[in-house]
Amino acid sequence: MITGHGGDIYALARELGCDPFDIADMSSNVNPLGPPPELMQHLTARLNRIKALPEADAGRMQRQFAAHCDLPADQVLAGNGTTQMIYDLPRALDLREALIVGPTYADYADGCRQNSVACRFGFTRERDGFGVDPDRLRDQIQTADAVYWCNPNNPTGQLTGADTIRAVCRDYPHTTFIIDESYLPFVPQHEDHSLIRERPKNALVLHSMSKIFRIPGLRVGFAIGASERIARLRQFARPWSINSLAQTAVTFLLANARLSQDFVHESQIFVGTERDALVKRLETIPGIQVFPSQTSFLLVRLPAHHRADAVCRHLRAARVLVRDCTNFDGLSAQFIRISLKTPDVNRQCAEMLGSYLSA
Ligand SMILES: Cc1ncc(COP(=O)(O)O)c(C=O)c1O
Repeated sequence: MITGHGGDIYALARELGCDPFDIADMSSNVNPLGPPPELMQHLTARLNRIKALPEADAGRMQRQFAAHCDLPADQVLAGNGTTQMIYDLPRALDLREALIVGPTYADYADGCRQNSVACRFGFTRERDGFGVDPDRLRDQIQTADAVYWCNPNNPTGQLTGADTIRAVCRDYPHTTFIIDESYLPFVPQHEDHSLIRERPKNALVLHSMSKIFRIPGLRVGFAIGASERIARLRQFARPWSINSLAQTAVTFLLANARLSQDFVHESQIFVGTERDALVKRLETIPGIQVFPSQTSFLLVRLPAHHRADAVCRHLRAARVLVRDCTNFDGLSAQFIRISLKTPDVNRQCAEMLGSYLSA
């Protein structure tokens, strides 16, 4: 397992001798508005469900999710977060060689390495704002039997249109495209950008509940794909891997579709407003470059003479955690990623960065 994910509030709390939950965690990409209060009440009233085993295969929750997406149940698999899929997929699909559209989330490469699957990167270019150029991508695919494509991408925030993704998928019918939509629900009209409902046969979509509903501690996500691919992935599923509270939470969110939709919509408006405000503030700092993002975090290139580790250290001392992007393949020690939080925290972070970087 790789180390160096964002969100390590526990290590910083140990370092500073404080409570992990007193840290402003701008390194983890979860929705600052979540979880929905109604969900918290619902779970609190059902804590006693941990006294019994959960349904072993989370079948009810899976069928509910499939119905919600107008899909047959055999095209959907629930996992212990999308992480479970990311680590099971290479072996379940018997992959040989994967292309990872990068710079991106490190666990795709880690999942391949753990399963002895060769992987290489097809990097987008900084001069294109890290946007995917579909023709370059076509050239990079070559002999790959799988392509990992995060949309919108972590950490660049770049969104590729669904039609573009579908067109590339169609051109490589024998390649499996693993489309990670973990951050898509933060994008307005996200359904129009999603491949879940209008999915090429060779696309396998990952859908996380962790980010938009801010329930990363419950560990629940879905894979959606052709029934034969899902059946192969299902062979690797472990019994009870979706715990009782996670199943209860998803069942609640799906049964209360209107409430969930309103929450998602409100979150999209909040994220859009906060992102614009933070971009404006950051852009007043000389030498800084903020990459356009469609989702809930921003990739930032620091002024030339600054390094991410020193900047992060400075913020850490004030209990503010942002993501040092040095360990992303395809980035460098000049990049940080900032996740949007509450307006006060966002403002405070921009001010601290401004005074540190301009000193
Ligand atoms: C792009 C991406 N995909 C998947 C995950 C894993 O999410 P989860 O396992 O909580 O669904 C993360 C977590 O940070 C992520 O950034």
